[in-house]
Amino acid sequence: MITSENLKKSTGATFTPTRLAQFLARRIACYCDATQPKRILDPACGDGVLLNAASNILTNVKEVSGYDTNPDFLKVAQLHIDTYHPNIKGQFLNEDFIEMAPSGYSLFPSTLFESHDIVIANPPYVRTQILGAEKSRRIAKQFNLTGRVDLYYPFIIGMTNCLKVGGILGVITSNRYLTTKSGADIRHFLLDNYDILEVIDLGDTKLFNAAVLPAIFIGKKKRKKNVTTGACIFGSVYEVQDKMEKTKLVERASIYDILNEEQPGKYRVGNIVYEYKRGIMKHPSKRDDIWSMTSEAENNWINTINEHAAFRIGGRFKVRVGIKSCADNVFLADWSKENIIPEAEVLHPLISSENINPWHFCKEHATKVLYPYHTDTKPRNTINLEDFPLTKAYLEIHRKQLESRKYLMEAHRAWYEMWVPQKPYLWKLPKVVFPDISLEPRFCYDDSGAIVNGNCYWIVAQSESERQLLLLIEGICNSETMTHYHDLCFNNKLYSGRRRYLSQYIERYPIPDPNSKYSKEIIQVVEALNATDNNATKTELEVKLEILVKSAFGILD
Ligand SMILES: C[S@@+](CC[C@H](N)C(=O)[O-])C[C@H]1O[C@@H](n2cnc3c(N)ncnc32)[C@H](O)[C@@H]1O
Repeated sequence: MITSENLKKSTGATFTPTRLAQFLARRIACYCDATQPKRILDPACGDGVLLNAASNILTNVKEVSGYDTNPDFLKVAQLHIDTYHPNIKGQFLNEDFIEMAPSGYSLFPSTLFESHDIVIANPPYVRTQILGAEKSRRIAKQFNLTGRVDLYYPFIIGMTNCLKVGGILGVITSNRYLTTKSGADIRHFLLDNYDILEVIDLGDTKLFNAAVLPAIFIGKKKRKKNVTTGACIFGSVYEVQDKMEKTKLVERASIYDILNEEQPGKYRVGNIVYEYKRGIMKHPSKRDDIWSMTSEAENNWINTINEHAAFRIGGRFKVRVGIKSCADNVFLADWSKENIIPEAEVLHPLISSENINPWHFCKEHATKVLYPYHTDTKPRNTINLEDFPLTKAYLEIHRKQLESRKYLMEAHRAWYEMWVPQKPYLWKLPKVVFPDISLEPRFCYDDSGAIVNGNCYWIVAQSESERQLLLLIEGICNSETMTHYHDLCFNNKLYSGRRRYLSQYIERYPIPDPNSKYSKEIIQVVEALNATDNNATKTELEVKLEILVKSAFGILD
């Protein structure tokens, strides 16, 4: 009779232990929508241990597909699914996944492309050189890989192409790519294609018989390259020689019990002591940087700040992007050079990346934007050009260009509208505005009714109490403390050290209790900073602010 045990013995294949498969499936489940119907893929499924665990643990699984080059393994996999999950459609194909996988460089569209909600896998780890020079060259070409390539690299690329955007990849591979020079390509690929959720280096836990040290990667496939969200969990388990009396250490029945711990530390399993570290992945500041954990001191620092947070900005406020006209030469013209100047009521000062400083925006240098909406009505109300003859005459000159904005015309909107006008009635309310890319934080306060350009984000207050919160947010966001937090948790620097202040990062900024004495003082200092133009006063106030921010977060040393 074919059983998994017999197969393992006869082929020497390194199958995933059932408890590790269950652990991976449970971690994946944390990031899935329980109500969403799911199609799951394992491209090197062996006896189907991972698909089985996923079918047991995830809800609403409709279909599982497994590929393997070994037909005997597939028979066992099919038997398991048919026996234990008769309601799930099981599809098992005796194919070489690398041949089948959409590589992105094939002329033929693959039905596998973005077809699955979840990919769970423990693909083979074999240096491709062992596959023979010709095959290895072909794989490298097909997947655009260079250098020393391991077989799990093309598997990762192929699996990613099979995954829908927003889908979850949970994969066990060798841990080598985390820290080796030759792993740089695959680190880039993962950073470019995933919001990384968890990386767990299983080090020398000997969970496999194989000589490889395994690591788990869990990520959510994203559409846009270079955008990463939030802090990613980084864990590791390594055996350590401990001088302490072993009996004094917390005992666990197995490594799996350690992996389920919230609390990092040293644990004893039988006679072996393991150090379990759990922290935040240090975001690589250069693309070639290896992946590692933030240091213990950095971790403690982040944790202290998080513990002092009363809320995250995104929990109270929407972080909005500015306007997009898709015809800036028309709407953001240099009005001093125009023969026809639109009526003053439709020309508004514009806050843009170029004129924002911390605390203020430079009104003198503000361009004026032609904003063809009434700013006092809710919902959005486009102006009637007959009421604004100069605006009409000016826009008519550019009518052809404006009407060539196909997406706007197809949406049945007026030909002289902006593509993204945002909510016109909100401009007059107090707001904090910041540029999306900047060397340093430049959060400024505005209550002049200025409009915000698409290269900036803004947060608006709709009541006096929200205005107070906004001042607190402005102070926290402009502080060196929060800049350091940003770098540790979301570091995503562009060339020459410019930071990206994306809405998804700012929404995750922690804000201390607004009723604490420090927060109240921060608000006062921010009001003074917003009001002053004197550089010496500003420097003095900023020093004071930094101390208050550190005190509010409990990190003043
Ligand atoms: C490390 S084992 C993992 C098996 C199973 N997923 C598990 O976790 O126990 C790798 C599996 O990949 C299969 N395999 C190797 N090369 C393959 C390829 N090119 N396409 C599909 N499967 C392959 C092997 O037969 C083996 O079953």
